Amino acid sequence: MKSLPKLCLYDIMYKTVKRGKILSIIADDNDFNQKSIVTKNPVVKPDFDEGDKTFENSIRPKNFDTYIGQSSLKDALKITITAAKKREKTLDHLLFYGPPGLGKTTLAGVIANEMGVPIKITSAPALERPRDIIGILMSLEEGQILFIDEIHRLNKVAEEILYPAMEDFYLDMTTGKSQTVKTLRVPLPKFTLIGATTKAGELSGPLRDRFGIIHRLEFYNEEELTQVIKRTAQILEIKIDEKGAKAIAKRSRGTPRIANRLIKRVSDYAIVKNDGEIDEEIANKSLDILKIDEFGLDTTDRNLLRLIIEKYDGGPVGIETIAAAIGEDSRTIEDVCEPFLLQCGLLQRTPRGRKVSPQTYRHLGYKLKNQSSQQTLF
Ligand SMILES: Nc1ncnc2c1ncn2[C@@H]1O[C@H](COP(=O)(O)OP(=O)(O)OP(=O)(O)O)[C@@H](O)[C@H]1O
Ligand SMILES: [Mg+2]
Repeated sequence: MKSLPKLCLYDIMYKTVKRGKILSIIADDNDFNQKSIVTKNPVVKPDFDEGDKTFENSIRPKNFDTYIGQSSLKDALKITITAAKKREKTLDHLLFYGPPGLGKTTLAGVIANEMGVPIKITSAPALERPRDIIGILMSLEEGQILFIDEIHRLNKVAEEILYPAMEDFYLDMTTGKSQTVKTLRVPLPKFTLIGATTKAGELSGPLRDRFGIIHRLEFYNEEELTQVIKRTAQILEIKIDEKGAKAIAKRSRGTPRIANRLIKRVSDYAIVKNDGEIDEEIANKSLDILKIDEFGLDTTDRNLLRLIIEKYDGGPVGIETIAAAIGEDSRTIEDVCEPFLLQCGLLQRTPRGRKVSPQTYRHLGYKLKNQSSQQTLF
């Protein structure tokens, strides 16, 4: 081995790895494609739920034409993809961030389809050990997309391995022990990393800087959600009219995942009450039964807002106090309930804690703070 030129040694190693010989030792395929924390969510919480898996895969848009909304992001991506294809180069690494259920994973699949390349999907918690990330990197093909979900949860070691892979398409590996230790630079095929996170703020600076393109996904408007609902209804062969779709869209918290969940629930109700057909009345009645109000708030959201109004005179109040009072975990409140409440102006974040807005008082049927915080009859 010693007499072999360096390049030749790497070549042998690379080819061996490509044939899957080393791969089987360093990578455990069972770890791929795993989601991390899986919890049961109430119907209007945007988190991924294991029960959504098969259903979501069957209705995921596969290309830009069927991917609804996010128009400025789509326009930018179309240009990037066309340019990469013309140059016959791989895409720059991309980072998508935004609240859960807005279509980050779906978009990664759309990009792979539009580029005509395969995609490998994993999530940061599945890449705990160095061999996990090394294995997945070595299994990539030229031009392939590697999608890492929840990328803010990558540990330091995995990040360090990823840096040279993202920048120069090399993997720095050490072999041997103590005095005989050697560093090898193993070349990797040119690939595109797509990272997704709901918490861009928790991503380390050096990792964020290695993404050439960074995009935020926005909440969807009512019109876009109506289209999402009509498309899903068509795929699932559910009969729904325009007004029925709009009624569901209004209560979907700007999130396609919730819209898709609600249509299933409303459809159940419609089967029992209206021969399976969804109109405005059926949609509203079934959503009322689910205790989802016209803003898309559920009982937990309303309890949270009521607490701030009734016990803390509209706030500000600390998140830990709120969490203890309503019996929820503070991270769940921050990650799951808050993004939409902040977005629609029912909750505000201040340095001294959370407070509600005059709109919250009106929405929940309270007199405004400066008049009286007593609840009134609407
Ligand atoms: N633009 C869209 N048009 C139509 N359907 C969409 C769109 N975006 C998302 N969806 C639907 O919403 C569901 C959730 O999307 P997706 O899994 O991509 O969200 P996500 O942002 O990756 O969520 P998470 O942060 O939990 O991983 C999917 O079933 C998908 O079909
Ligand atoms: Mg996702």
